[in-house]
Amino acid sequence: MAPFIRLNALTKRFGDVLAVDDLTLDIEKGELFCLLGASGCGKSTLLRMLAGFEQPSAGRIEIDGQNMAGVAPADRPVNIMFQNYALFPHMNVAGNIGYGLRRAGMRGQSLNGRIEALLKLVRLQGYEDRKPNQLSGGQRQRVALARALARQPKLLLLDEPLAALDKKLREDTQFELVDIQETLGTTFMVVTHDQEEAMTLAGRIGIMDKGRLVQVASPRHLYERPANIFVADFLGMISFVEGLITKAGKGSIEIDSVPPITAAIDTQNSKQSKLAVGDKVTLAIRPEKISLSATATGEINEIPVVVEDLAYLGVASNYRVKAANGQMFKLQQQQSRRTTQPLTWEEAGFIQFDPSDVIILEG
Ligand SMILES: Nc1ncnc2c1ncn2[C@@H]1O[C@H](COP(=O)(O)OP(=O)(O)OP(=O)(O)O)[C@@H](O)[C@H]1O
Ligand SMILES: [Mg+2]
Repeated sequence: MAPFIRLNALTKRFGDVLAVDDLTLDIEKGELFCLLGASGCGKSTLLRMLAGFEQPSAGRIEIDGQNMAGVAPADRPVNIMFQNYALFPHMNVAGNIGYGLRRAGMRGQSLNGRIEALLKLVRLQGYEDRKPNQLSGGQRQRVALARALARQPKLLLLDEPLAALDKKLREDTQFELVDIQETLGTTFMVVTHDQEEAMTLAGRIGIMDKGRLVQVASPRHLYERPANIFVADFLGMISFVEGLITKAGKGSIEIDSVPPITAAIDTQNSKQSKLAVGDKVTLAIRPEKISLSATATGEINEIPVVVEDLAYLGVASNYRVKAANGQMFKLQQQQSRRTTQPLTWEEAGFIQFDPSDVIILEG
C-alpha cells in the first residue's frame, strides 16, 4: 500500500532563504510523527505547505494517493492547528468547537452530539458555555485541539500545540494527545522544538536542520544510534571523544585517546565494519551509560577523573568530570540510596563505560 503522505524532493525558497531543502519523506496512515528541530529550521513552512497555505518552490506533495498541487486548503483532507492558534474570543467553547461544522452545514442534534463527543474527547465537558478568556491556557489549548479535530481530518497538523503550557500541564497534555490520537487513529504530524516532548509523543521523529531532514527514526533509535554528530548532540546530553583508530577488528575499535577507549562496532551499521587503523572517528557516550566510583576496578574503559561540576536534581545528579588530558565527560548518577554520599566537587574518582555503550560517529 502507498504511504499516506508522500513528500518528494520538496523545496521552499523565500528569496535567498532555503526554508525547506529537497525533503523526501513517507508517512504511514495512523502515524504520530514529530518534526523536531531548532528555531528557523523550516518546520512551520513544511506544515504550511502540507496544509496548502504555502506553495512549494519545487517537489511534490501527495496525501492519500492524491497530488496536492493546485488543491486549495479547504479541499485537502487536512486540518492545521497553527503555532499561534487563536480561538474566537466572542464565541463560547461550544461555538468555537462547532465553528467548522456549522460552516459545513451541520445543525441541530447532529451538531450538538458531535460537539458533546469532542468535549468528552478533550475532557472539557461542562465548559461549553465559557468564553476563551474564562479558561486556563491548557483548557484553551484543548479547545483549539477539539476545533481542529471537529471535521475529522484524515491528517492533523499541529504546530507547537503545547508551547503555551507550563511543564506539568504540558506533560499531562502530551499523554492526552497520544490517547486521543490512538482513539481516533488520525494521522498526526506534530511540530515541536522540545526533544522530550517529541520523544514522549512520537512513533517516529524527523530531525530537521536548516531545511533538511537529517535523520528519521524511532525515539529509541535516534537516541541510541544517532546517524551523525548533529543528531547525537541535538537529542539529550552526550560526551564526545575524538581520536584516530589504533586497533580495528574483532567487532571493536580502539582510539588513541589517553587512556585509549575501546568501542564495539554496531553490527546494524555497515559503514562501521569498514573502519580501519588511522581513520578519524568521534566516539559518543550517553551520560547514563557512564558509572562513577571512588576506587578503580580495573575494567575496560576506566578513566581517572576529577569532579568539575555537580548538579543535584533529586532523582539523579548530573556530573561534569575531567580526565587528565583535559577531556570532559558528562554523566548522570542515579541517587538510588538515600544516605550514600556520592563524589563531590574537586574529588578524584574513576569513570567507566562498556564498549557496547559507545556510539561510533564519523569524523
Ligand atoms: N514568509 C516568509 N518570508 C521570508 N522568509 C520566511 C517566511 N516564512 C519563513 N521564512 C524563513 O524560513 C525559515 C524557516 O521558517 P519556519 O517558520 O519554517 O521555521 P520553524 O522551524 O517553524 O521555526 P520556529 O521553531 O521558530 O517556529 C526561517 O529562516 C524564516 O525566517
Ligand atoms: Mg514554527
